[in-house]
Amino acid sequence: MYKKLKEAAQYIKTVTNVIPRVGLVLGSGLGAFVERIQNPIVIPYGKIPHFKQCTVEGHEGRLILGTIAGVPCVVLQGRLHVYEGHPMEDIVFPTRVMATLGIEILILTNAAGGINQTFRPGDLVLMEDHINLMGHNPLVGPNITELGPRFPDMTEAYAKDLRNIFQKAYLNLGREIKKGIYAALLGPTYETPAEIRMLRIIGADMVGMSTVPEAIAANHLGLKVCGISCITNMAAGIEQRALSHEDVKEMAAKVMEHFSNLLCEGITLIKEQKF
Ligand code: HPA
Repeated sequence: MYKKLKEAAQYIKTVTNVIPRVGLVLGSGLGAFVERIQNPIVIPYGKIPHFKQCTVEGHEGRLILGTIAGVPCVVLQGRLHVYEGHPMEDIVFPTRVMATLGIEILILTNAAGGINQTFRPGDLVLMEDHINLMGHNPLVGPNITELGPRFPDMTEAYAKDLRNIFQKAYLNLGREIKKGIYAALLGPTYETPAEIRMLRIIGADMVGMSTVPEAIAANHLGLKVCGISCITNMAAGIEQRALSHEDVKEMAAKVMEHFSNLLCEGITLIKEQKF
């Protein structure tokens, strides 16, 4: 694994000499953010050694290096999901490659169903923490000591200082701050209304099928992590309507402007705070 990471990073370094400080993973339907990257160098996943292709519509499968608000960044336009049948090791491989390239900060984004009744479709919610209900963990198996410890601390899985920075970004954009706990389920079915009631009882504010594997791998690597959920729909049973991937993508497209502004503002503040 360690050798594969080096090979992937080595290939990327032959294409560009940008050394990224911030990594970004764009969730379902949120790929259009890449238009905000300056001087982009686009590398399809298929060209990078050991990268798996995305199979889900709304996930392009391209790694892009460039600058955002003057900060060197690497952006993953499209991610792999556990429900696609990939081993966990493949799902977190791109996260580990970004760390090998030099990132210190990882911003994870996703589309999610709103459980908290104060949320509305279109809200961008800062992840305060997560509940892993995927039934798996990417660190299962022999520990790769070059990457991190056997038992990583998850007390601040989503770094407090980054959460503070993004709260400031919301305020600077004149938006109300929304925060919540993300529950990750395996999917690919959306949840039943009974499952949503259970998730509410155990403290979840939103639900999705991604992000947690990458957040765990990133914490293992010692990266600072930030998460933003785009509430694309209210979770099952809250509104009297069926859930569909089409609606998820449509809502993500509607908030793209605000989503892009929030990310750019957050990265600007990261640059100014020099941490
Ligand atoms: N449930 C799970 N994943 C999701 C949802 C949802 O309601 N919306 C977008 N991703």
